[in-house]
Amino acid sequence: MIRWAGRALAAIALLLLFGIGGIYAASQAKLADVSATQPERLGRPTPQQLADAPRQARILGCYSCHGAGLGGKMMEDIPNVIRVHAPNLTDVAARATDEQLAAAIRQGIGTDGRPLFVMPSPMYARLSDGEVGALIAHIRSLPRTSGRAETVSFGPVGRFALATGKLRAAPEKVQEFRSQAPLALGAGHEAGRRLTAINCSECHGPALFGATMEDGNVTPDLRIASGYDLAQFTTLMRTGKAPHGRDLGLMAYVARNDFSHYTDGELAAIHRYLSARADKLGS
Ligand code: HEC
Ligand code: HEC
Repeated sequence: MIRWAGRALAAIALLLLFGIGGIYAASQAKLADVSATQPERLGRPTPQQLADAPRQARILGCYSCHGAGLGGKMMEDIPNVIRVHAPNLTDVAARATDEQLAAAIRQGIGTDGRPLFVMPSPMYARLSDGEVGALIAHIRSLPRTSGRAETVSFGPVGRFALATGKLRAAPEKVQEFRSQAPLALGAGHEAGRRLTAINCSECHGPALFGATMEDGNVTPDLRIASGYDLAQFTTLMRTGKAPHGRDLGLMAYVARNDFSHYTDGELAAIHRYLSARADKLGS
């Protein structure tokens, strides 16, 4: 009896080992897959793009994740699952070429050649050469600080999520964002459409139809914005406060920290586009 139990245990241990080995191997493959890298060719940013880059870096969320002075920030530490530290970009930039930084920003390939996680590169893939060049110039203009260069690491549960595709690397999602975009509604709405494409799609989905995010947050289709008048929308985007008074959590956070840096004109263009999109798509 004892011997039988011993064998059964050994079999289970072997199965577990194979299972864990399989998960480890599958997750390891995902951690190393950079097959889609393309060469980066950056144009020279215009003086206007250079002057606007500090503000763009705020609207795009670089400061919210990479911290004050882009010196790095511990974003999340869930034992056994994932530890997310956004690296110190002043230190990264000092060791990297512009092309490496551009590939990190727009393709989700780290300067050490790894596929990146959490970094919203699929959305940033929609930035122009000039805009990315200006962001890089902005990073290089900041004083180099000695913050930690730590990045993202995974525990066993995180590795399981990787192996099963619940957690995906940025380069994998870049393709998805290339093949889907917010509905085009003609030249008059292009400015508003572009702002949503490069600032809202990270969370509201590549074409703004809403999404379930990897961190469990659920976002609505941005047709919902047509229920806001311009004054209410402006308040939402600057303060995170909605007329219904419900706490909007992550949305309120990005509104206060990132979107509060929009001009009135930009907010009006976004509101006008989202209202027209809602009319076109119906409810
Ligand atoms: C939602 C949070 C988030 C936002 C927003 C974000 N980043 Fe990141 N970024 C990260 C994390 C986390 C990593 C590390 C990912 C990893 O190692 O897997 C990273 C990595 C990078 C890297 C690669 C560093 C290296 O060692 O190769 C660069 C460059 C970078 N980010 C630049 C930017 C810029 C520029 C912006 C704004 C346009 C930005 N990031 C916005 C979270 C973010
Ligand atoms: C970092 C993630 C993130 C980004 C980026 C983001 N949102 Fe959201 N947004 C959310 C989440 C999460 C919710 C759902 C909040 C809830 O219902 O608790 C939401 C909800 C909303 C709502 C509905 C509020 C309501 O009354 O229920 C509007 C409108 C909205 N977002 C507009 C935008 C616009 C416009 C942009 C781009 C300029 C944007 N969001 C970018 C995460 C984000």
